[in-house]
Amino acid sequence: MSTSKAETRVAAAGEGIQAAATLLAGGGLVAIPTETVYGLGADALDPAACLKIFEAKDRPLSDPLIVHIPGIDWLDRLAVVPGTARRLAEHFWPGPLTLVLPRREIVPDLVTAGQETVAIRMSSHPVFQAVLKAFGKPVAAPSANRFGRISPTCAADVFAELGGRIPLILDGGPCAHGIESTIVLVRDEGFHILRNGPVTVEELMPFGPVCGAVPGISAPGGLPSHYAPRTPMRIGPPVEQASRLLFTQQAGNRDGRPTPPSIGLLSWNSPGEGFDKVEHLTRNQDLREAGVNLYGAMRRLDQAGLDGIVAEPVPENGLGAAIMERLRKASAR
Ligand code: TXA
Ligand code: MG
Repeated sequence: MSTSKAETRVAAAGEGIQAAATLLAGGGLVAIPTETVYGLGADALDPAACLKIFEAKDRPLSDPLIVHIPGIDWLDRLAVVPGTARRLAEHFWPGPLTLVLPRREIVPDLVTAGQETVAIRMSSHPVFQAVLKAFGKPVAAPSANRFGRISPTCAADVFAELGGRIPLILDGGPCAHGIESTIVLVRDEGFHILRNGPVTVEELMPFGPVCGAVPGISAPGGLPSHYAPRTPMRIGPPVEQASRLLFTQQAGNRDGRPTPPSIGLLSWNSPGEGFDKVEHLTRNQDLREAGVNLYGAMRRLDQAGLDGIVAEPVPENGLGAAIMERLRKASAR
């Protein structure tokens, strides 16, 4: 085991797998890396264990959990699976796609927040897979952050969010995608994307019609404000003067005179001249690289003690749709 602080142990992934499975079997929590972001796992079929997830995250019980399955055989045990959903699972799993399907009795109400559907995915991360293999049952796992905050993409970020609240974090290094899975509600008429993610609209289209929002079904994350830094953030052009004006009311007064606000830039394609701190999502306008860096860059800007953060918009094609969705939620107040 590498490090230990407060009651939370951070273990090198290889060494911690058996400990993680033992914790899960005992109804405990463990933070586990996935290819998208780190998840906070518990035995998905044990409501008492799942309740601990909500407590550790300060998450409202109205927000349902994603169930991660050890193998495709679990799909039919947990949900009613139409042919189109099975084709998506066979093509994209293991990988960053979550399917929302009619649930079966076996799934606890706490996991689905009392809804008639359950969200299911199969992670491709070798550490997550190894834990599931050792545990042998599905694991419910939301992102391992406190509710409404930025999802963690490395073990240190999990520690910053949940250190002292959970017994074990498995360190599997940085996540390959850096943004949460695409969530698709499968209906007779086609697929409804409830959350954009690494599997893009363009990739889903060959499998059936991709429809708009469904009335009455709230988008994941529910609230408009989510994935949010504590520092006020706005989407806008990477222009220093205009950005300072935008955050003027956030700055304090010195000697009776207003002090100019300190501002940071989350840059897509701008050098960010004049800004007090700049984080570059990518050096060559690569959406995949931008996705990987997004949450870490947001976290560093948030920790810099700025009065405001301006996020430069990214092109909204492909993975850009998922990144813009996060930027909009992070800047909603
Ligand atoms: O990539 C991911 O999906 C990560 C990793 C850990 O797997 N998990 C994740 O979980 O992002 P979470 O809980 O942070 O976000 C999942 C979202 C929640 O906002 C929840 O509202 C939604 O999925 N969700 C879960 N079950 C649902 C259901 N039956 N119908 C609609 N939305 C659902
Ligand atoms: Mg989350």
